[in-house]
Amino acid sequence: MKRTLIALFSLMLMTAFFAVITSEADAATYIGAAKCKICHMKEFKAWQATTMANSFENLKPGVKAAEKKKAKLDPNKDYTNDPKCLKCHTTGYGQPGGFKSLADTPDLINVQCEGCHGPGSEYLNIMKTNKEFKRADAKAAGLTIPSEDEKGCMSCHGMESPFNEKVDAKYKFNFKEKLKGTHEHFPLKYQH
Ligand code: HEC
Ligand code: HEC
Ligand code: HEC
Ligand code: HEC
Repeated sequence: MKRTLIALFSLMLMTAFFAVITSEADAATYIGAAKCKICHMKEFKAWQATTMANSFENLKPGVKAAEKKKAKLDPNKDYTNDPKCLKCHTTGYGQPGGFKSLADTPDLINVQCEGCHGPGSEYLNIMKTNKEFKRADAKAAGLTIPSEDEKGCMSCHGMESPFNEKVDAKYKFNFKEKLKGTHEHFPLKYQH
């Protein structure tokens, strides 16, 4: 009886173990904006000129002190490893293959392409091999075109942000206007 129980228990452990391995192998991971740049130079350059490309800087002590005070944050505190800030000021924090810490994943600081377009390791291969790929296939591999709602822009630009419209009207999010500020948009060459 005891033996059967032990055997059963090990079997359960092994199944759980393999389930973890396969789900990790299946999940797309974050690769960083430098990889997207190779094929999307125009979007990359336009994005690089935005504050998103430098948004980790704002978590450092002394940076934007007046704004932090107004939002009831401590201007002298180092927020660069504060989980409360990382979700919106890095790429893929808390997700498989996403930002962990400045030391472990220095290439995933800031709000990069994949912060809006989803982890790229899998859809990158689709884009690489077929310029006329079907959008549905890229989406199934992790690509997102962010919407205005809580699943898209508002996941970061909503009331959860310390810099929201209640703190200052200038933080109010107007989708139409803000869309222009993500990066310049160019018509696609192919039908997807
Ligand atoms: C090897 C080249 C290559 C790389 C690398 C690449 N892409 Fe693309 N991507 C393409 C091509 C080709 C298209 C289709 C372009 C067209 O139709 O004009 C495309 C289209 C897109 C689109 C539009 C999709 C649609 O259906 O509206 C997005 C968004 C995109 N890429 C994001 C990214 C991001 C983010 C990365 C980095 C994680 C990336 N791409 C890396 C080649 C690439
Ligand atoms: C992962 C979180 C996140 C998502 C998702 C996100 N943003 Fe942002 N965005 C930020 C942060 C953080 C900043 C502020 C950067 C800073 O000042 O540190 C910002 C700044 C901006 C800016 C100002 C850029 C500039 O240079 O003035 C625009 C415009 C913008 N976002 C538009 C959008 C739009 C449109 C969407 C949805 C399509 C979106 N954002 C989705 C986090 C995000
Ligand atoms: C829910 C997402 C979210 C979280 C969490 C978040 N931020 Fe931000 N942060 C944003 C967005 C979005 C902006 C850009 C607001 C805008 O310009 O409209 C921003 C802007 C900023 C700015 C620049 C403000 C300015 O006026 O230039 C600083 C500084 C900042 N955040 C620091 C922090 C710190 C420190 C934390 C953690 C205590 C934090 N943020 C947590 C989303 C977030
Ligand atoms: C703040 C969110 C956000 C970030 C960050 C972002 N994008 Fe986009 N991107 C969008 C949105 C929204 C669209 C769709 C625009 C539309 O449908 O009008 C888009 C469209 C695109 C397209 C389709 C063609 C075009 O020019 O509109 C490509 C390619 C693309 N993005 C690549 C990138 C790359 C590469 C990066 C990083 C260097 C990046 N994006 C960063 C929000 C973002």
